[in-house]
Amino acid sequence: MIDVKTKATNLVWHKAQVTRTQRETLLHQRGGTIWLTGLPSSGKSTTAYALEAELFRKGFAAYVLDGDNVRHGLNKDLGFSAAERAENIRRVAETAKLFADAGLIVVTSFISPYRGERDFARRIHLDSGLGFAEIFIDTPLEICEERDPKGFYARARSGRLKGFTGIDDPYEPPLSPELVCRTAEFSPRQIVSAIIEFMAEEGFFLDRPRNAALR
Ligand code: ADX
Repeated sequence: MIDVKTKATNLVWHKAQVTRTQRETLLHQRGGTIWLTGLPSSGKSTTAYALEAELFRKGFAAYVLDGDNVRHGLNKDLGFSAAERAENIRRVAETAKLFADAGLIVVTSFISPYRGERDFARRIHLDSGLGFAEIFIDTPLEICEERDPKGFYARARSGRLKGFTGIDDPYEPPLSPELVCRTAEFSPRQIVSAIIEFMAEEGFFLDRPRNAALR
């Protein structure tokens, strides 16, 4: 469970002049986060980048935060112990919240194996009035292992890679996700359509005003 105390003292929140509503009106969308979770090779990144591309085609501003990519920069100091995975997700949740506050649609693609950390991500978004949806990329372990595009399952099975999620490290499936996507049964295109339909119902997309750029 995440319980990070604020270390610094003498901090005063500075309120922006531009409101979130103004940002959202400019972008004709509501800021929020689509949080994808699932086993390694379950199809999170494929789904995330296909969703981002489709949202762009439809004229919405989206941005993917992806596990492997974020671990190249912001989180390059973190490994895969339970504490480091938790810190990885805490930072990503806070980053997603900032991007969402800027009016963007954020799509996160992290194993995010622990319920407590995913609940934290949800809570900080909802507490700030931002949209949040947890989407379970539900692919059976056998299929993830069969796909194994990076060869990590094979290495984990042979003992050359320790602490690999799904083999010798835990994954806690969501108990009540907003959406479950079965990549073994549906194509990426079908899954992206289902997510976009869900987002439309949830009010992520605002009507585009005429001359939006001039307002
Ligand atoms: S998380 O558990 O902290 O959420 P994250 O999504 O950021 O994981 O990173 C997962 C990626 O790291 C995998 O796609 C894989 O390429 C790589 N990886 C390297 N070691 C491990 C490991 N022990 N367990 C899971 N993924 C690993």
